[in-house]
Amino acid sequence: MKDETRSDFGIRNTVKSDGQAVYLIAEKCPSLDLNSRYCYLLLCTQFDKYCLVAEAGKKIIGFVSAYPHPHRTDTLFVWQIGVDPDFHNRGIGTALLEHLITLAVENGITYIETTITTSNKASRALFRKLTEAYNTNCIESDYFPASLLGEEHEAERLFRIGPFERKGDK
Ligand SMILES: CC(C)(COP(=O)(O)OP(=O)(O)OC[C@H]1O[C@@H](n2cnc3c(N)ncnc32)[C@H](O)[C@@H]1OP(=O)(O)O)[C@@H](O)C(=O)NCCC(=O)NCCS
Repeated sequence: MKDETRSDFGIRNTVKSDGQAVYLIAEKCPSLDLNSRYCYLLLCTQFDKYCLVAEAGKKIIGFVSAYPHPHRTDTLFVWQIGVDPDFHNRGIGTALLEHLITLAVENGITYIETTITTSNKASRALFRKLTEAYNTNCIESDYFPASLLGEEHEAERLFRIGPFERKGDK
């Protein structure tokens, strides 16, 4: 990630009181499907092991939500990642994913999966760049077709990235 911004923010697991701020960031990111406040509260409390926020001072400026894949024990599914538009392109998305991968690998999880629409260039570039940084693989495939997502919604393509290894394992 970009060194000049590393000290500007911290990353930590979520707590209940983050739910509202995470909702507001998702609301500011038009490419994200906005879920209910209740959903973000659940994520920040019951899924806190793999839900993270980036914080600058006391301000939440980004989040990532993820959970262990229920059918693939080696995989973490990354549900949403969003960075406050005022803080884009400062390495915050990358830092959130790096932190998440470290947590996953510590817990024996070696792959991440996520879905991305074809038009979401920033997200595609973010995950592709991560794949390169870890010198690993990214397999892209069909997942949720537009016909299942409603008229206004593009198809969501599945990205499976890994394997990730503990630093020093290679
Ligand atoms: C995707 C998102 C989380 C990236 O967060 P970010 O903090 O701006 O990302 P970073 O600064 O870590 O950028 C990492 C890399 O992603 C790529 N990237 C980021 N924004 C980009 C953009 N607008 N267009 C093209 N590439 C972009 C770049 O390759 C960048 O690395 P580089 O600047 O060294 O070349 C952010 O754009 C966002 O919140 N978007 C709206 C929500 C969203 O679409 N989430 C993903 C849903 S699947």
